[in-house]
Amino acid sequence: MELLPRSPAEFGSARYWDRFFRQRGQRPFEWYGAFPELCPVLHKYVRPRDKVLVVGCGNSELSEQMYDVGMCQDIVNIDVSDAAVRQMRERSAGTRPGLSYLLMDMLHMDFPDAHFQVVLDKGTLDALLTDEEEATLGKVEQMFAEISRVLQVGGRYLCVSLAQAHVLKKAVEYFSQEGWVVRVHQVASSGDEQQFVLPVFVYVMTKFRKVPGSAARILEICPEEQDRPLRVESAERLLAAVRDRQHYALLCSQISKTPCREQVSLDLCDRESGKPRYTLHVVDSPSVKPSRDNRFAIFIIPQGRETEWLFGTEEGRRQLAASAAFGRLLTVALHREQLYEGMAAIQAELSAKVMELAPPGLPARQQVPFLSVGGDIGVRAVRHRGSSALSGDFVVEDVKGDGSCYFRRLVFLQNRNVVQSEARLLAPTPLPGQKKRRKDKKKPSPTEPPGAVDKSYLCCEHHKAMVAGLCLLGGPDALPGELAVLVVGLGGGSLPLFVHDYFSQARVAVVEIDPSMLEVATRWFGFCQGERMQVHVCDGLDYVAKLAAEAPAQYDAIMFDVDSKDLTVGMSCPPPAFVEEPFLQKVKTILKPEG
Ligand SMILES: C[S@@+](CC[C@H](N)C(=O)[O-])C[C@H]1O[C@@H](n2cnc3c(N)ncnc32)[C@H](O)[C@@H]1O
Repeated sequence: MELLPRSPAEFGSARYWDRFFRQRGQRPFEWYGAFPELCPVLHKYVRPRDKVLVVGCGNSELSEQMYDVGMCQDIVNIDVSDAAVRQMRERSAGTRPGLSYLLMDMLHMDFPDAHFQVVLDKGTLDALLTDEEEATLGKVEQMFAEISRVLQVGGRYLCVSLAQAHVLKKAVEYFSQEGWVVRVHQVASSGDEQQFVLPVFVYVMTKFRKVPGSAARILEICPEEQDRPLRVESAERLLAAVRDRQHYALLCSQISKTPCREQVSLDLCDRESGKPRYTLHVVDSPSVKPSRDNRFAIFIIPQGRETEWLFGTEEGRRQLAASAAFGRLLTVALHREQLYEGMAAIQAELSAKVMELAPPGLPARQQVPFLSVGGDIGVRAVRHRGSSALSGDFVVEDVKGDGSCYFRRLVFLQNRNVVQSEARLLAPTPLPGQKKRRKDKKKPSPTEPPGAVDKSYLCCEHHKAMVAGLCLLGGPDALPGELAVLVVGLGGGSLPLFVHDYFSQARVAVVEIDPSMLEVATRWFGFCQGERMQVHVCDGLDYVAKLAAEAPAQYDAIMFDVDSKDLTVGMSCPPPAFVEEPFLQKVKTILKPEG
């Protein structure tokens, strides 16, 4: 049986549809969106006393089901296919007096103006708008104009659609320009595996009187899992939100059928603010031998620790998944701008959502464990928020590390996966004479004043390597009596501070391009200038060039610890100019011969 048209344009021809329904016979054909799924949305917009018009009814059971459950008692159905209309009349003859079926073209309807409260279309606009040719768009506008004409003010045009971008765009633009309120509902899927992969949407366009000169357009989206509509500011935003939902549905469908070779990452956003709340990574471990209980687990990364190698890199997560010994591990990172009440609340919030990302072969009703480090969600307390022209918005935050240590971190929000500076915090020490009572032993809470900075701590491997290099200066001989060190890049200041404190003969000059970093280092990271420590706020490239011209052979050691403000580089490293030969020549010029 050949049911598909030779070309998509045939979807707009009465001949095609007539042949379709003749060949199809008596069996109802539901294009998509079955009644049980559509029912919650339809209930909101169809009232029992409404006069409802169904355009392009085909031989779908939708009208019969709406009628049979008492959703409404007056439904007029039209179609251009004589075969469909005859079949439907026969099916309801004598049993459903409020249902009528008419052979009528929706582009030229016989109904008087403002005759209906609801026009319902399931798949008919999708079938007509197969391309963006002028002739097609002309027909669609004619369809919209007819629907507008037969609807009362306050009436609703409900269009069930797969929301292909050009279809949604046309409908949204047309009706919002007419001054109607446009709301797009995503229909909650029934979870039936045989079902269509693409999510179904219902556009609800409510007719308003056109107010001349009024430009305010109301556009809203109701995602599947929530009732309350969210306002969006433009048709583009509405289209983008629908596209996100379609991509998500496709992704879920794909990874529920096959293991993912590459790690998949996605953000789940807060309903109210639209800001990312959870960042998820789906990590499959093909080497894990599947058993009933080890197919799927969720791992909650403690707050503030998402930047650590194990959680923040692909390789780290792969190792984490393999050592957790689950076929699929879903890592969940928590965002700093969001509030979390605790592990139980996170589990409650995520448990339905994460099942959409379950691996193939997960037994039905399988309990999926939530794993974490030590059973808690970690502690992150933002101590300071700032903004600078050079580095953008940044935060200083205290984070509980592995064990009982706390760390203070500087993070530039435009590069939130990279810690710019880190200091270890000392546990608060009791004041002299103050006895340590039992309750003083309690863990510091985020609201407690932080302990002082532990200046003996070097946070990263490259700092340790640079300090080790400093020890090697002078070869087998002792270090020079005076050590002139230049550090380019202050950040939180822990590297220059360490050099200053542990090399008593060192005079440290620091160059920092961003004046707000000096403020941050001083206020939050225990940094201070003094006789052996001087900060120059300027560009490191200029500083080195100036010295090379004016005062060569100055330094025993020069350390570079600068980031690139250009995020397109894709990693945290100095800007290219720092490693180009002309600059390195200047660096050489300002180093002492043995430096
Ligand atoms: C994709 S089918 C949808 C059928 C039904 N609503 C469903 O969901 O199963 C499109 C229907 O629109 C009808 N149709 C196409 N052009 C039409 C027109 N100009 N006026 C009325 N019906 C039309 C076709 O005959 C067909 O039944």
